[in-house]
Amino acid sequence: MAINDVAYQKCINPDCGAEFECQESMFKCPRCGDLLDIQYNWDKIPVPNKLGAFAMRWANRDRLLDFSGVWRFRELLSFCPDHHKVTIGEGQTILQSNRAIAEHLGMEPDCLFLQYEGLNPSGSFKDNGMAAAFSHAMMVGARSCACASTGNTSASVALYAHSCGMKCTVFIGSGRIAFGKLSQAMDYGAQTIQIQGDFDDCMRQVQAVCTKLGLYLLNSLNPFRLEGQKTIMYRIIEALGWDVPDWIVVPGGNLGNSSAFGKAFLELKQLGLIDRVPRMAIINATGADTLTDLVNNKKLAWNNSHVNQKIIDDYYADLTARHFSPHTCASAIEISRPVNLKKCLRAIDVCNGIVRAVTDAEILDAKALIGKHGLGCEPASAATIAGLKHLLAEGIVAKDARVACVLTGHTLKDANATVDYHKDKQGEFSNPPIEAPNDLNEIIKLIR
Ligand code: F0G
Repeated sequence: MAINDVAYQKCINPDCGAEFECQESMFKCPRCGDLLDIQYNWDKIPVPNKLGAFAMRWANRDRLLDFSGVWRFRELLSFCPDHHKVTIGEGQTILQSNRAIAEHLGMEPDCLFLQYEGLNPSGSFKDNGMAAAFSHAMMVGARSCACASTGNTSASVALYAHSCGMKCTVFIGSGRIAFGKLSQAMDYGAQTIQIQGDFDDCMRQVQAVCTKLGLYLLNSLNPFRLEGQKTIMYRIIEALGWDVPDWIVVPGGNLGNSSAFGKAFLELKQLGLIDRVPRMAIINATGADTLTDLVNNKKLAWNNSHVNQKIIDDYYADLTARHFSPHTCASAIEISRPVNLKKCLRAIDVCNGIVRAVTDAEILDAKALIGKHGLGCEPASAATIAGLKHLLAEGIVAKDARVACVLTGHTLKDANATVDYHKDKQGEFSNPPIEAPNDLNEIIKLIR
């Protein structure tokens, strides 16, 4: 097919490699069923030759596309005209240098950075991806959309759908979603369908529903969403003066972020805008550690795009035979069949990546550490610091390496996890409320 636009969709399966216009709407390769990627004809795009040019735009607060933390990098995700671009003010995030946590972990004090995505309009990183995916949805004239979710995707989809005037249905597993997130989906007017099953069941059902009813799918299977999520990495290196850190640490769930981050660095390197790529650590919860098991034990690898599908098929067949359902307090990453697995393997290849799994207890202690010393976050986000602790102990991450951890969601997304941790009094940082009589002298005695 002659693809003459600046951007096109391409199947990642090397034996297929089918290409499609961006104006077409699909979420899997219609020929072979594999994942789709967005590819660019870079020579037709006026990409600034210095990354600093993007930062200048942020000062234009009256121009929404310049102010957006996604669209001010628009030449690096140039798949739709400006008049279709959607923004609700996403990406106004900060990279916090956190000396206290660095010291606690035994790192050099100026080496740890927290990329706080909780500042997004819906309180998680998802808004970066939704700004891009909803722009594509507007471009193809979608009227109605859907997603499966462990919570944050549904909150973000509901918010963007509302501002785009689109109907929206979200699928969640019953009992598998933190209350803060469920409250958002309902409040923003999404039709919320609670399926008796886990996220992987919802993911399967939503694809079938979207195919049958022609709804626009907003999970990270959607390659346009991942284009928006690349900008999280642009903002990290921007905050470091366009210097690349030594490590990026990210939680792994459906593996959209890790996939997008790898693609971001690959493209920046190819464009000559950076001279090296960082290493990437992807952190699973032990109760949902498909990636860790496949990469570290089954030796699954990108293998120059020839991924051994049989290893994956056998693994999933075994999960099915055992009726396995993942379980972790980090409900956001409670996923055992990550849809972006192959793209994540590519990211691991590009970024010399490494994968680890951490326990719920480690996640909750790390979450409390982050809460105590800086920015609160939800459990899945704290897997980054818990994972970093492992990597420092193993000597894989050096104490003086510059590390950026992506805190993917706001602490208030899952207030129950926080309250339970502190009230339980068992955690390293538990800080329960102290009962006091309604008496001034008694109260004063209690003040530390
Ligand atoms: N952190 C948070 C707070 C999340 O909500 C998610 C995913 C992840 C990490 C994992 O990111 O999928 O890119 O590896 N949440 C999805 C949802 C699955 O439905 O909200 P990933």
